[in-house]
Amino acid sequence: MTKSEGLLKKLNDYCPGAVPMHMPGHKRNVKLAPYLEQLGAAVDITEINGFDDLHDADGVIAEGMERAARLWGAERSFFCVNGSTGGILASVLAVLDDGDELVCARNCHKAVYNALELRRAKPHFLFPERETFSGTDCIVTAQAVGEMLDKHPSAKAVIITSPTYEGVISDVAAIADAAHARGAVLIVDEAHGAHLGFGWGFPDGAVKAGADIVVQSLHKTLPSLTQTAIVHVCGERVDSDKLACSLAVFETSSPSYLLMSSIDSCVRLLEENSDKLFAAWKRNISLFKEETSDLKHLRIMEKTDKMFGFDPSKLVISTRGTNINGRELMRRLREKYAIELEMAASEHVIAMTGMGDTEDNLQVLATAICEIDRYLENSDAPEPPVLIPPERACFSWEAAAGERESVDIYAAAGRVSAEYVWAYPPGIPLLIPGEVIGEDFEQLIESREQAGISMKSTFSALPQKIYVLKKP
Ligand SMILES: Cc1ncc(COP(=O)(O)O)c(C=O)c1O
Repeated sequence: MTKSEGLLKKLNDYCPGAVPMHMPGHKRNVKLAPYLEQLGAAVDITEINGFDDLHDADGVIAEGMERAARLWGAERSFFCVNGSTGGILASVLAVLDDGDELVCARNCHKAVYNALELRRAKPHFLFPERETFSGTDCIVTAQAVGEMLDKHPSAKAVIITSPTYEGVISDVAAIADAAHARGAVLIVDEAHGAHLGFGWGFPDGAVKAGADIVVQSLHKTLPSLTQTAIVHVCGERVDSDKLACSLAVFETSSPSYLLMSSIDSCVRLLEENSDKLFAAWKRNISLFKEETSDLKHLRIMEKTDKMFGFDPSKLVISTRGTNINGRELMRRLREKYAIELEMAASEHVIAMTGMGDTEDNLQVLATAICEIDRYLENSDAPEPPVLIPPERACFSWEAAAGERESVDIYAAAGRVSAEYVWAYPPGIPLLIPGEVIGEDFEQLIESREQAGISMKSTFSALPQKIYVLKKP
């Protein structure tokens, strides 16, 4: 393998002089249409001589993936152009065989559920404990994982999300120990934590902690284009060749060189400049925290004793106890200050920071938050309802094969759901196909709709109706 200066440099050197009698059909003719130039078509190629093949890499792409493995400390790393979604699907299908049992934290992203359905897996759901600041059920402990595995000794794998959307980090090292001691492998959805482990006040990530597979979205927090992700294999418990085959199933056979260059360049940037970049990012966050330290009503999330760790890049702002909800705070920031947040829940919003943030961005946000806070009033609000673990009538893949009918949600209690129900973001299902709809379901949907959170379901029947399995 030859050492190159990176994929993007290679593309820039090669493309101007070569005659492309191959795909893509725009032929790098950026004069054809203005959009082609804006989209970077001048360096958009397919797998041609000298440019390696993502799915059988031994050249410039392999070199980039090795660099990524070295940087994070993994055994082997894979570039992924289908986001963490593709990485999760591939990882689950590589680790489990059809019908296998596993322990799955119930706050996992819907990609995990889709993977389980494809594998006809038998999940034992671990319902995380409540984190009270954000009112999200996201605390997963090693003890809870160990107990679940003791109850279900045939479970081959454990899947958790760390950090969560809100930035809550689990004790991955202890969870990995608990899983390994019982013969299970640990997959960590670290979609929100590609920036962890580089110091500067950002906690360590799951690769260092000893997880077996770690899936990271580069695009969520680092300077890389949307859809770019990396899957790391750590240690010897997972067959990385099998994972490579599985990734090829869930990714296009024509992976974008723009996206792969983005991953490669991002990894190089971190390798060369991480100290300076992380120091600046952390400084900007600290300035935001100082500027907002005197809020009277809104509150900004910090690590609590209940959390193992917290990612300071997430600015989770609570509206609890004020006269506005998360959706209203999001609206005010958008309409008056042109600030678009990542998401709004009933009683909090998430302002995501990323390495690309400037001091100005965070200053504008801090000023807006302080100004909004000044005009708020106190108001009592009930605690958000806790999700009562639904009873499972059958597995999701069994429900998918059943005959379904639509019913009004007020008449749905006791019926078996034929749909997933979730708010997106964060894409964590409240209900999955095959689960019995509880008495509390209508109220759960109504309380979220009232808070301006629109609930989605697989067949888009909500909020009026939901698809259930026909009675036998
Ligand atoms: C926890 C979590 N995992 C996985 C994903 C999917 O990531 P991607 O958008 O990179 O496919 C998301 C997306 O928001 C997420 O929040």
